Amino acid sequence: MNSTLIENLLKTKEIGRQIVFLKEIDSTNLFAKEITSNTITNGMIIIADHQTEGKGRRGRTWIDEGGANILCSLILTNLKSTSLLPIIAGISIVESIFECTNLKAECKWPNDVLLNKKKISGCLIEQIGNIAIIGIGINVNQNNFGDLTNNATSLFNETGIKWEREVLLVNLLNRMETLLSIYEISSSEIIDLWKKYVTFIGKEVNISTEIENYSATAVDVNEEGLLIIRKDNILQTLTAGDVSLKINL
Ligand code: BTN
Repeated sequence: MNSTLIENLLKTKEIGRQIVFLKEIDSTNLFAKEITSNTITNGMIIIADHQTEGKGRRGRTWIDEGGANILCSLILTNLKSTSLLPIIAGISIVESIFECTNLKAECKWPNDVLLNKKKISGCLIEQIGNIAIIGIGINVNQNNFGDLTNNATSLFNETGIKWEREVLLVNLLNRMETLLSIYEISSSEIIDLWKKYVTFIGKEVNISTEIENYSATAVDVNEEGLLIIRKDNILQTLTAGDVSLKINL
């Protein structure tokens, strides 16, 4: 990553104003969690070229081809609420991808981003006390996904073009800052924006939790970012934590 390019393009006040660049690390989220609280500033970001133990949601791993993708963890220290962070991250990812490439990605609840129905980005949000760590992985120039070929993709795989990671990252950070300030005033504005980018509302979905799998209809997402589903004609609300959702295409 070219740090000067990032610094020159950033338009934010706080987000990304303190950056730690790492060639290789186990996981940027783990690194962020280990930094002592007195060195942390709001908006600080940890960026790595490669992770040896990248973490995904629900104990999964996040694998990357070194030097190809965006792997970062953004640290936020002064939030009123964290419930819409996955949604804010999702909107920022979709909009920054569109801004840089003109490609229309879509959000899948709670915090995946899909491009041409394959996963291009994921987000792992962790909280320690009042500090939130937003870990974001975006597949930019990776061209081999091994066993995941049917389910994962990158900007390079979809376009045949190698993209500048720095430009995409800066767009993402600029957008995050704007959305975080909107969130301070209005959650509904964030949810409404996000709904522009989701494609599964009103559709049949498969829900899988630690204990069961079932089909239901995705009805809506409420102001706290919880998914409302209809199962056997009864409305239920799901929290993001332990749920994985598959859209029936
Ligand atoms: C998921 O879709 O399961 C979440 C994937 C999150 C991956 C990112 S890459 C940067 C940050 N560091 C990690 O170890 N994980 C997140």
